[in-house]
Amino acid sequence: MGEIMSLERIPTGIKGLDELIEGGIPKNRTILVAGATGSGKTIFSMQFLYNGIMESNEPGVYVTLDERPDLIREDMENFGWDVKDLEEQRKLVIVDASIGRLGLPSNEEHAIVDTSFDYKKLMLETIKACKSVGAKRLVIDSVATMGMYFKNPDDARLAILEMVYMFSKIGVTTLMVSEIEQDTKKYSRFGVEEFVTDGAFILKYLDTGVQGINRTFLVRKMRGTNHSSDIHPLEINKKGIEITKIEQYGI
Ligand SMILES: Nc1ncnc2c1ncn2[C@@H]1O[C@H](COP(=O)(O)OP(=O)(O)O)[C@@H](O)[C@H]1O
Ligand SMILES: [Mg+2]
Repeated sequence: MGEIMSLERIPTGIKGLDELIEGGIPKNRTILVAGATGSGKTIFSMQFLYNGIMESNEPGVYVTLDERPDLIREDMENFGWDVKDLEEQRKLVIVDASIGRLGLPSNEEHAIVDTSFDYKKLMLETIKACKSVGAKRLVIDSVATMGMYFKNPDDARLAILEMVYMFSKIGVTTLMVSEIEQDTKKYSRFGVEEFVTDGAFILKYLDTGVQGINRTFLVRKMRGTNHSSDIHPLEINKKGIEITKIEQYGI
């Protein structure tokens, strides 16, 4: 046993999670974060970057395709995370690929303003941002949105494969967010994200829940890891996301 090299891991720092995955996400890999709208994907992903900066001194890059950066900064303030301050310290970069895609101007320093959304351009801007701060952690939120701009599913699949490869090469550990429908059994939009990524977290919002539990968290896969296969309660409180234990609910 002793001679087997164990994978280097990146702790998420999210309370209750790292102990479910042998201490963290395998380094330089890409993990899918899938869930319906409102399931907590954006908070989860930003918390991963925030903890990386605060606890491990690892700079991060957040690429947003859905939400505007100023709204993200505002929302994260509720958890006591001063995103703006981290950006000023050049520990965090937000790449704005949200409204620029509509041809609207962006005040952001790192923005993609291009109505004919160009995936290569997004890749280049992302890699540039990662290099500029020496990023160790990256979030793409979300690939589902990116997919709208591909002419066919094969193009989307190839793009995702290429991204996973590139991000690993530049040495970042990536969360790839995918928005899925509420009651679907599928974990990805293009039927490929869940296969090309090295792991998948599934976040669920239960609209008919047991009292006290209305969100759940599942490690659907994590390569090279003896991970929990249970469904865990997930809580969003004033400190952000916390994975709790079922016993806490007395059921
Ligand atoms: N301060 C907060 N306290 C508790 N819950 C919150 C707070 N802020 C947001 N939420 C919950 O988180 C949800 C949004 O989470 P978000 O990460 O943006 O979801 P997603 O990215 O999956 O669409 C909101 O709909 C709300 O239910
Ligand atoms: Mg979101």
